[in-house]
Formats: sequence, C-alpha cells, structure tokens
Amino acid sequence: MTNFHHLQGLQSLLPLISLVTRKDSALEVYKEMLLLYLEEGRRQVNSRCAELEPWQIIGATFITTLGAVWIKGFLFQHESNISHVMHGNLRWLIFCVSCYFFCCQVYGDFAWSNPLHPDIFPGVRKMEAEVVRMSCTLFHGGPNSCGTVTSGGTESILMACKAYRDMAYERGVKYPEILAPVSVHAAFDKAAHYFGMKLIHIPLDKKTMKVDVKAMKRAITKNTAMLVCSAPQFPHGIMDPIEEVSELAVRYNLPLHVDACLGGFLIVFMAKAGYKLAPFDFRLKGVTSISADTHKYGYAPKGSSVILYSDKKYRHYQYFVAPDWQGGIYASPSVAGSRPGGIIAACWATMMHMGESGYIDATKKIISTARKIKAEIRKIKSVTVFGDPEVSVVAIGSDVFDIFRLSNALTTKGWNLNTLQYPSSIHICCTVLHTRPGVADRFIRDVQEQVAIIMKNPKEKTTGMGAIYGMAQSIPDRSMVTEISQGFLDCLYSTEVAKSNNSHMNGNGKAH
Ligand SMILES: *Cc1c(COP(=O)(O)O)cnc(C)c1O
Ligand SMILES: *[C@@H]1O[C@H](CO)[C@@H](O)[C@H](O)[C@H]1NC(C)=O
Repeated sequence: MTNFHHLQGLQSLLPLISLVTRKDSALEVYKEMLLLYLEEGRRQVNSRCAELEPWQIIGATFITTLGAVWIKGFLFQHESNISHVMHGNLRWLIFCVSCYFFCCQVYGDFAWSNPLHPDIFPGVRKMEAEVVRMSCTLFHGGPNSCGTVTSGGTESILMACKAYRDMAYERGVKYPEILAPVSVHAAFDKAAHYFGMKLIHIPLDKKTMKVDVKAMKRAITKNTAMLVCSAPQFPHGIMDPIEEVSELAVRYNLPLHVDACLGGFLIVFMAKAGYKLAPFDFRLKGVTSISADTHKYGYAPKGSSVILYSDKKYRHYQYFVAPDWQGGIYASPSVAGSRPGGIIAACWATMMHMGESGYIDATKKIISTARKIKAEIRKIKSVTVFGDPEVSVVAIGSDVFDIFRLSNALTTKGWNLNTLQYPSSIHICCTVLHTRPGVADRFIRDVQEQVAIIMKNPKEKTTGMGAIYGMAQSIPDRSMVTEISQGFLDCLYSTEVAKSNNSHMNGNGKAH
C-alpha cells in the first residue's frame, strides 16, 4: 500500500523498489528514479542560472568546454601522442551524446504516455494513483477516500460540481443550485454555466471576509445541490468557516466542497510548520470533496491538480461512460479524453522530490513571510488589510485614497500584484521568491514609501491601468464588460499584431 512515507525526499527511493508489482518491470522503476534525478538536476541548474543573462551562460559553457578539452589534453600529454588525445576526446564526446539520448528517451516515454490507456501505460497509472493517495492522506481522508488527477483547479472544480449535479438529478431536482461565498473562484460560475446549474452567491461578513453561515443556511432549498467553502479564498486569502458550514452540510445532508486549489499544499503542512489552523479537511464529517492544485504550492509543472472525495460513491458521479461508441466502450474519469502522462509523471516526481520535509520547509518560509507582510502593512495608516489572512495572500484596501493608485505605483517598482474588485483592493500572493532575504522588507518599504507619496494628495485622479480597473467595475451594464472581455480574448488569438509589426521588414502592406 502506498502511503505518506514516500513523501520523504530522495532517500525514499529505495523502498520504492518494493512497491513494484509484477506488472511493472524493473526498467520502469529505473526510469522513474532517473526522472527524479533529472528533475532535481534541472531544478538545481535552473536555480543557479536564474540570475544569469544568456550571454553569461553561453560564455561560461564555452569557457568550460575549452577548459575541459585542455585538461584532458594535459592529462594525456605524458603519452605525447596526438592521436591518443583525439581518441580520448572522441570517447568523451560519444559518452555525452549517448547520455543525452538516453535522457531524452526517458522523458519522451512519459511525454507520449496517456493514462486514457492504463493497460499500455501502467507506470503513469500507478503514478496518478499515488499522487491521489498521497493527497488523500495529506487531507486526512479515510480508507474510502479517493480522487483523480486533473489538468488544473478549474477542471477539479468542474468535476465536483458535475458529480453533485448528477446526484441532485438522481434525487429528482430539475434546477440544481450551488451555494457558494461571493469570494469563491470564478471556476464555480463556469461550472454553473457549463452544467446548467444556478450559482447562488452568499455574502461575506464585512469584517472577517468569511462567508456568512446564517445567510448560507437561509439560502438552502430543496434545489440545493452542494455547499462550497474556500480554504483559503483567492481574493483576500481568508479561510471560510468550514467547521460551521460542515455542520450545516451534515444537518441538511448536502455535499460540501472545499476549494483548496490555491493553498491546499500549504494548509496541510501548516500544523507541522508550527502554524495553527482550524480543521478544514476530511476530519470534518460534512466535507465530501476537496480540490487542491499541485501546480500551485505543490510546485508541480502547470497542468496538474487533484480532486478528492471522502467516499468512492461521489467519484462515480464524476465519471463519464459511453458504452455504445463504435470506437469501443469509452470510459473517462474527467473532462479530458487523452491526458498528458508526462505532466502526471512530473507531478509525481515533484512530490517525491519535495518530500514532506521539503513542503514543510517551504510552508514555514512562505507563511512567516506573509505574516510579516500582514503585520507591517497593518501598521500603515490609511490602508487596511482585509480580515485576518492566515495563509499566503494578503489583500490591501484603503478608505482614504483609490487603492489602484498604489497598484500603479508598486507596478512601476517591479511588483506584480493582483487587482480585485467589489471592493477595490489589491493583493500580494507570497511565493518562495518572496521568502528570499530582503524581498519582503523591500516590498514593505515600497508600500510605506508609495503610500506616503499618495497621501500628500489623496484625492488625486487615478491614471493608467489603475483607472481602467476602477472604470471596469463601475460600468453598470455588465454585459458591456463581457463584450469588451470577449474582444480582448479575440485579440489574444489574433495574428494581426505580428503582421503589422513585420510590415516594416517585408515592406508589404499596412496594419489592418
Ligand atoms: C487558482 C484557483 C482556482 C482555479 O485553478 P486553475 O488552476 O487556475 O484552473 C480555483 N480556486 C482558487 C481559490 C484558486 O486560487
Ligand atoms: C508592435 O508594434 C507596435 C508599434 O510599433 C508596438 O507598440 C508593439 O509593442 C509591438 N508589438 C509586438 C508584439 O511586438
């Protein structure tokens, strides 16, 4: 049985061998091990090279190569035989080239694998099952807990909503409703839109920014298909009162989804990192599903997330089966048909590589940084921190000046902050990058300085992007905003820009 022991870094590779069932060949395991080392190597090299400019990397490569050739020449010199040196160099070259091709082979194997065909790719199937098992364990799932790997938080959320919609249909509900806090991620709007459900937004407590549980209770009707909480929510980084909502869920016999997409792989390690947090996971009886993004604080490459259920009966409602297709019986667990085996392998390898200690370490650094930023921003007069953020996001607003002016100012200082609406605010989402020495201090100093500058003239008009954010949320006709946004999406797919920019090169035509 796989369990959490395997989350203990590279040392844990040896017990892996015993994991191998007769079906998997030893070669498979060696490949998996090699992949881990490759990932580690890649990470090490990338982190070393992060601050270098391309010319420095190319230059260093050139000099190293020259150096290596010279050293080899020197070592073979006592034989004073030129052909010998040449021979040595050739062998050296062949060794490097074959290493390169072997590595590519391993990567390639996983890149072309597809869990839609578990019989052909047993290695990836096993990795996916283990990612799910480890995640279930982290969220205190019982023996019956289960889940699937998806392409991202949105797909995880879509799957939970689809499952609960079908459960509601089975109960005879015609128009299933999702009850979710207004702060919940827009993926729930998307789910409602795709699956013919109605999303009912429950207001927040103005002070704590947590969902108003009484309002949620009042909104429950016979059409309610599911309740939702966030752990934590994206805009202000606040944990919803999941214990109380869980009680509601139990009392009304409703499923409760906890959206831990953003901070799932932080909150599960917070207790061990020394930070207290109210229970948010399968320890609560009412929590029936959890979404958590491995591609956020799980540090896996983009395109992976997990959706977990407290019981297998819920997961069945997620599945799709077309038993009569001419192409054969088609059974798929989630939205995707073919799925990227390489991403799942990389996700698995990342979890193995990080290990429990790696995650706890990162969590400690990130939470302490976010706490420091929260404490220092709270000290600044004329700005406020929304509620009491306990995880990695700190949202800032102001009653005195337009907060988007601060976002403009901080952007010019090189900070990338998210802008939020209703109410106008900005937030910083702390990552490992912010935990580097001096970074948080610089951010705090920049906020203090820029607020001081703004407060010299608090009523001044906002310009630039800040003005656009402000305007966008004040347009009463939201369908207009939708249309403009659709135009924006069209632009992303347009090649016109490239054409017009090239025009001065090929000298043909003007911008369209
Ligand atoms: C990121 C996020 C999602 C959606 O995840 P994607 O990976 O962007 O699809 C859902 N909920 C929260 C709270 C998030 O932060
Ligand atoms: C295209 O050209 C315009 C004007 O010269 C410039 O402002 C814009 O940034 C360019 N876009 C790209 C994608 O290079």
